[in-house]
Amino acid sequence: MEEKILVLDFGGQYNLLIARRVRELHVYAEICPYNKITPEEIRQNGYKGIIFTGGPNSVYADGAPLCDPAVLDLGIPVLGICYGAQLMAYLSGGEIRLAENGGEYGKTALYTDEDILFRGVPAESVCWMSHRDQIQTPPDGFRVTAHTAQCPCAAICDSEKRLYAVQFHPEVTHTAYGQQMLHNFLYEICGCAGLWSAEDFAASAIEKYRRELAGKKVLLALSGGVDSSVAALLLHRAVGDNLICVFVDHGLLRKDEGDFVEQTFRSRFGLHLNRVNAEERFLRRLAGVTEPEEKRRIIGEEFIRVFEAEAKKLGKIDVLAQGTIYPDVVESGRGDAAVIKSHHNVGGLPDVIDFDEIVEPLRSLFKDEVRAIGTQLGLPEELVWRQPFPGPGLAVRVLGEVTAEKLAVLREADAIFREEIAAAELSKAPDQYFAVLTDMRSVGVMGDARTYGCVVALRAVVTDDFMTAEWLRLPYGVLEKAAGRITNEIPGVGRVVYDITSKPPATVEWE
Ligand code: XMP
Repeated sequence: MEEKILVLDFGGQYNLLIARRVRELHVYAEICPYNKITPEEIRQNGYKGIIFTGGPNSVYADGAPLCDPAVLDLGIPVLGICYGAQLMAYLSGGEIRLAENGGEYGKTALYTDEDILFRGVPAESVCWMSHRDQIQTPPDGFRVTAHTAQCPCAAICDSEKRLYAVQFHPEVTHTAYGQQMLHNFLYEICGCAGLWSAEDFAASAIEKYRRELAGKKVLLALSGGVDSSVAALLLHRAVGDNLICVFVDHGLLRKDEGDFVEQTFRSRFGLHLNRVNAEERFLRRLAGVTEPEEKRRIIGEEFIRVFEAEAKKLGKIDVLAQGTIYPDVVESGRGDAAVIKSHHNVGGLPDVIDFDEIVEPLRSLFKDEVRAIGTQLGLPEELVWRQPFPGPGLAVRVLGEVTAEKLAVLREADAIFREEIAAAELSKAPDQYFAVLTDMRSVGVMGDARTYGCVVALRAVVTDDFMTAEWLRLPYGVLEKAAGRITNEIPGVGRVVYDITSKPPATVEWE
């Protein structure tokens, strides 16, 4: 049985990060909500260890998330983090209390004793704290293995039962030896061998789908983004021509992008690819529409219609494949965050396509793991490292009404900006960078004549997760060259501005 760790989710903000850190240590980790798995299922699944995550609650609060205490008696090692630590202590008969001065937040000096969890960790180090409650009295059988100035039980353990609890967050980088502690938990306590790598994952996934999908007709919506591209290559290795990719070109792609996707997948990889050129159809629906959310809604809906019509032509489909990745799964499982922008993806497809089965080969992977597999499968660098591109494409970068003429101007401006960024050979490329065609015009002078041209905005940001982003201090020379070329080479553009707003308060896209 494959070696894996269960991350039992109690609603903390770092839960994805925990799974990611475990995988960085070459052990496969999967996250499951605390109330979606029974002790018996945990046992049957053969987990090598369990991690209880943090969470915003107090164990004594009404409706606090509590798991079945039997989880602690399975004989499987458990590491409780923050709320998870308090929960472990509470379920084992310890006492939890509000910390005397309201809690501890941020970097904190940590004093650790000799313990297997702290092997290789100095007696004094720095940890990251974020809590109000804390363990006051450890349960019988547990001993204290670390403390801070405010927190007498910063770590406790019952080494006989292999139960470990830490009040701080080993998964965040501010905890200096956090990764060492997780390493100790996985290798010294759970006895993991470290068998997991994204590359091995690909090989076994291909093998598995070759068996499971033999003789079945598989349909995939390919966008050219890294997720659907990697899903396509992986499934193609498994089922060959039984995989049919439909690429809906809505005419809102960047310069030459549609052709590049077609050429890559059809000519280079020999995939069975149907490209649908639907630009006219999308532009017709978008005529006169200026409201950003309305544009998104129309594009999402039209995309599904076009795809559905194409799928119908193919007759009976056995399997619908999607390039869903792990953060998509986890984020959509929550869904109570406010909708700032409705992100268009292929989420509506399962409702309109008639199929027997859905497969999502990348469902358990993070983006960097997907990229590693893409590289392994020979996906060109440009696609593996492609910056994110919104589903509604350039429609949300042409402010106001979208027309073919405006799209043509934006495509050129965007291509020039990208060329100049590439030519600059920056030590680190921006995480996302593009041009926007504003709906403003401005006065200028060219030769001796007055001009009244449109205004192009350039945007470049750095970010870890796109939830927040910082505008990038691009070298002036790059901006100067891009602005010069855009105004000289594109008729009708009279002015170029650079966006120096971070997110928040702005978003990455202008619409
Ligand atoms: P915002 O503008 O919300 O963008 O700060 C964050 C990231 O999401 C991308 N984005 C979208 N992606 N459909 C998508 O698939 C959308 O409607 C959409 N809107 C924004 C954006 O490009 C950035 O990477």
